[in-house]
Amino acid sequence: MLTRRRVLRDAGIVVAGAALSTRLGSFLTAEAAASVPPRYTLPLQIPEVLTGADISLTAQLADVQVLNGPTTSMWTFNGSFPGPTIRRPAGQETRVTIAHALPASAGTLTIHNHGGHTPSIDDGGPVQDPIAPGGSRLYTYPLTEDGGPERAAMQWYHDHTHHRTGRNVWMGLAGMLIIDDEFEAALNLPSGAYELPLLLTDRRFDQNNQLVDPFTAPDRESLGPHEAVGQGFPPFDENVGNVFLVNGRPWPYVEVEPRAYRLRVLNASGFRPYNLVLSNGAKFTQVGTEAGLLPAPVERAEVLLGTAERADLLVDFSGVAPGSKVALQSRARSDAGDRPHTGAALADLLEFRVQGTPGAGISVPAALRPLPDWADELSPVPDRIWAFGLGTDDAGRAAWTVNGRAFDHERVDARPEIGSVETWALVNSTPVATSHFIHIHDVDWVVLSRNGAPPPPGEQGLKETFRLDPGEVIVIGAKFTDHTGPYMLHCHMLDHEDHGMMTQFLVVDEGEGDLPALPDPLAAVSGPERTCVAGILAATRRRPGRPAAVRNSPGAGLAAPGAAAGSLICHLPTS
Ligand code: C2O
Ligand code: CU
Repeated sequence: MLTRRRVLRDAGIVVAGAALSTRLGSFLTAEAAASVPPRYTLPLQIPEVLTGADISLTAQLADVQVLNGPTTSMWTFNGSFPGPTIRRPAGQETRVTIAHALPASAGTLTIHNHGGHTPSIDDGGPVQDPIAPGGSRLYTYPLTEDGGPERAAMQWYHDHTHHRTGRNVWMGLAGMLIIDDEFEAALNLPSGAYELPLLLTDRRFDQNNQLVDPFTAPDRESLGPHEAVGQGFPPFDENVGNVFLVNGRPWPYVEVEPRAYRLRVLNASGFRPYNLVLSNGAKFTQVGTEAGLLPAPVERAEVLLGTAERADLLVDFSGVAPGSKVALQSRARSDAGDRPHTGAALADLLEFRVQGTPGAGISVPAALRPLPDWADELSPVPDRIWAFGLGTDDAGRAAWTVNGRAFDHERVDARPEIGSVETWALVNSTPVATSHFIHIHDVDWVVLSRNGAPPPPGEQGLKETFRLDPGEVIVIGAKFTDHTGPYMLHCHMLDHEDHGMMTQFLVVDEGEGDLPALPDPLAAVSGPERTCVAGILAATRRRPGRPAAVRNSPGAGLAAPGAAAGSLICHLPTS
């Protein structure tokens, strides 16, 4: 088995004294030394909802009652964590003014509406007109798309600062944003008290109930070429918590009636995936993803939700005896096989206490929202390939990479034309066993295939954040509507994002795109990684189907010949 240390050495990266941590998935729910309340003793709180066209949010320090005992000093919007939920009708312009009242030492901020189809200038990318301490900025969200209102969906907003997103979100700068429309209202899904927005996240606290700060991003920038890396630097930069919070409180409970509920779940953790299950073995009826309603509901016993993904889930308590308790938990993936390091947190999350008079169960039409018309125009053959790997940045520091290169805000890696449709392949070519969760700004995407097979349940609609397990390839297509300008494409595991795994595409006017000049999309992948990516794509064509278990094999390039995509971990050539 190749170790991370060996892989780094082969890549010419010096590793000193790094503990080979594989915390992801192996970190049980051990309580911190902080005053962590016992499970299911605090009531679930629902963040305040703001519905006006003009919304003011102040990023400010606040003492938040997260645990028992001392409050936690956090960076909040309007004093709460999570921030207030913004809830607006689709198609109605929404103006959000962010005031930066955090201490100057926090640095600049930039706020992104994640999932919004926002003009580039107001998209809150890492270098788009950041807000200085003491300053403020207006972000305008038209909430329209391709000539009509945006589709109803649960979005969210969070800080997106260059190199510091992980820390800033960890400190508290995130909140939910829900778009409603008439199409969805006509479905009569559970609403009001029967619709629960749930922001899942995890944190670590010190003995005084304060957030620990494990982030090394600013120090990283002062490292010279090939300087020693270790804990906190790629690929040892996995910041996870051991206290699981739902809407900002550890392991809360909520009283529910014996009837159908709608859970709108957001994974706002910086790094962790959750594999959601119900403790009574009941299935979820999934009606939507982060990009709104699916074409048809799907029943799922478990719902894997990576960082930034959302799921719109109906849960039926109508058959549950009043007085019973059902927990929402995260459990090991049943499809994990012996794939390394693609686990979900093992966690208790939320307890439902069922009581009262039985009401109606789930009733949902067999057809929900159809895919947009442009989905029929998509080619299954990728126009572009994005490979997510590990390498070095221009200064020779270990970095997460896209097509072999670390983020450089002055570089543009693709120029799609406005009004055009494109097909992209996202490939996990990382030579250590880690998943990635790739988010693309601006538009929503149809999933065409995963490892050469039709998209699995939950991916058969529009999405904007995609799981890539080791060696996997996912093929997606979209139409670039309405807005020109730069947009981001990055891993949403915030440590990966902050440490290089991001790039940008520039939507350009008709006739100015770069596709005609790109006969071979593989050419965009540089160096030895190209062989590996070619192999993954070839394996996808050869053996479509569910990925086999991962087995490393020594040597450059690829694992065993004939292996399917999803069973491959790219290896850097040994020197
Ligand atoms: Cu949720 Cu580019 O971010
Ligand atoms: Cu990643």
